[in-house]
Amino acid sequence: MKLEQILNEPNVPAWLKDATQRDLCERLLSGRHRWLVTGAAGFIGSNLVETLLMLDQDVRGMDNFATGHKHNLDEVRKRVGETRWSRFSFHEADIRDVAACERAVAEMDFVLHQAALGSVPRSVKDPITTHDINASGFLNMLDASRRAAVRRFVYAASSSTYGDEPNLPKREERIGNPLSPYAVTKLVNEIYAGVYARTYGFASIGLRYFNVFGPRQDPNGAYAAVIPKWIAAMLAGDEVQINGDGETSRDFCYVGNVVQMNLRAALREDLRTSEVYNVAVGDRTTLKDLFHVIRDGLGSRGFAYEKAPVFRDFRAGDVRHSQADVSKARAELGYAPLLNLRAGMNEALPWYIASLTNR
Ligand SMILES: NC(=O)c1ccc[n+]([C@@H]2O[C@H](COP(=O)([O-])OP(=O)(O)OC[C@H]3O[C@@H](n4cnc5c(N)ncnc54)[C@H](O)[C@@H]3O)[C@@H](O)[C@H]2O)c1
Repeated sequence: MKLEQILNEPNVPAWLKDATQRDLCERLLSGRHRWLVTGAAGFIGSNLVETLLMLDQDVRGMDNFATGHKHNLDEVRKRVGETRWSRFSFHEADIRDVAACERAVAEMDFVLHQAALGSVPRSVKDPITTHDINASGFLNMLDASRRAAVRRFVYAASSSTYGDEPNLPKREERIGNPLSPYAVTKLVNEIYAGVYARTYGFASIGLRYFNVFGPRQDPNGAYAAVIPKWIAAMLAGDEVQINGDGETSRDFCYVGNVVQMNLRAALREDLRTSEVYNVAVGDRTTLKDLFHVIRDGLGSRGFAYEKAPVFRDFRAGDVRHSQADVSKARAELGYAPLLNLRAGMNEALPWYIASLTNR
């Protein structure tokens, strides 16, 4: 299908229409490839599946529904339509199962490995399970991809790898000590990726996502991320709790930027090493300011929230400040971060409101 036709469809993600993304769309449309997305029923994975299908690719998803949901895939199906959906297949399987990983990567061109247990506090509470999935499961996928000789293995790394490194903005080559079991697992991913490039000549790209938000990010459960958790609390008229003094800051990144980086990383030619890239906007917003951005966004959509936030203790394992330098991604992959926090919130709020209020 022609790019112009696709970009005129009502459900195409808005960021894809930006002129900076034309090259990416055209490269994808110039050939149909086979993509494996692990963690496909999750937040980021389902956004990857959606964009790939919109751009007429063949996609296989793999997920065990540990934290992902079938309703995310149902939503993608509705958005892309039945014709495109017919090019999606799904393996309900666990990345801790070596044979399942082998089956999943068979005949794939590209692997976008997203499956993991997210959340720093979850890893503090249960480091063993986090390690099994995020470190051993990762190795299973990396090794299966190497043996299947896929063209490119791209994986979700994390800004938590910067740990106690104090300098801002965060540059890829300067990391500190990890501050949580989760951060260890993500650092281990990068170490293995480096060893696989040096030992087996299997190149890969790790994407250090900063705090990602957008449609299909789960607002429920004890380990929900701050943005969906606060939106849910405000819509319900509940208390919003801020961990610490509210001056903790983050580089909040709309999910479209993450999708863009995965696709650009996969299509990078002539890679011989293992590379890592920051994926964020390059801005820094304090939690206090985030509170206002969400409250204003909901207010302008008819959901006024009058309560003041409640401050409580700092949370174990949390990094104090986070802001990315995205110049490496810009220079080497042509990355263009498109939506800052306010613009991304504008895109995301209608979804959160619809899913939390059934409107
Ligand atoms: N969301 C963020 O802000 C953020 C930041 C940094 C890194 N990351 C990383 O990005 C990736 C995607 O995160 P997300 O925010 O979409 O989380 P998510 O929980 O929505 O998605 C993760 C998916 O992986 C699946 N999964 C978990 N264990 C599995 C297993 N053993 N086998 C198969 N599937 C399994 C889950 O069911 C889920 O669908 C993760 O690797 C996460 O660590 C996310």
